[in-house]
Amino acid sequence: MSHPIITGFAGSLSAPSRTRAVVEDAVQLTAERYGGTGSVFDLLDLGPSLGRARRFGDLAQEAQDLLQSLVEADAIVLATPVHKGSYGGLFKHVFDLLDPTALYGKPILLAASGGGDRHALVIEHQLRPLFGFFEAQTLATGVYVSDRDFTDGRLADPATRARLERAVDQFGPYLPGFPASHSVSGAPVLAAI
Ligand SMILES: Cc1cc2nc3c(=O)[nH]c(=O)nc-3n(C[C@H](O)[C@H](O)[C@H](O)COP(=O)(O)O)c2cc1C
Repeated sequence: MSHPIITGFAGSLSAPSRTRAVVEDAVQLTAERYGGTGSVFDLLDLGPSLGRARRFGDLAQEAQDLLQSLVEADAIVLATPVHKGSYGGLFKHVFDLLDPTALYGKPILLAASGGGDRHALVIEHQLRPLFGFFEAQTLATGVYVSDRDFTDGRLADPATRARLERAVDQFGPYLPGFPASHSVSGAPVLAAI
């Protein structure tokens, strides 16, 4: 492998979505840093078969393909909006449909977006244990963003962007064959945003 595949999933039904904006930034930074190819999808892209699905095979083919791209990625970015102090219900439902071994050993950057700062620990108390169940390698630095970190729908707060970059650095040990290059810029690294 010379180019890592980075896939991001935003557990949001909003358009535009702050959660998706963070995932897009994280995937783009990762693709640039490691010379890879990135793509992003969200709950809207998964479509209406998701809510009715009791198992993976009940999903529409397009939704199955998107989730397959997630489990086949070399590096994964996952984010959820905070709903009532936790991840959203449909975000959890997506992972309920995956085989327990589907994310084994996968490096995952965790992020969440909330209206304020009160629920910033949703990453540590809700998301990290969920992906512990899957025996995934969640990166040490989680990225929580709140509404005030955004300007015109994009993540603008310098401290939060610096935290995001720090988290992206932590993919390094899981992508040992890939160059940790900062020189790739302006490339069309995002295929599906
Ligand atoms: C049903 C619902 C519940 C929410 N609950 C919380 C919450 O408990 N804590 C919080 O900080 N924000 C909460 N929010 C605000 C969203 O998490 C926040 O605006 C988020 O950035 C929206 O992401 P999006 O643009 O991707 O939809 C809630 C929003 C909705 C719609």
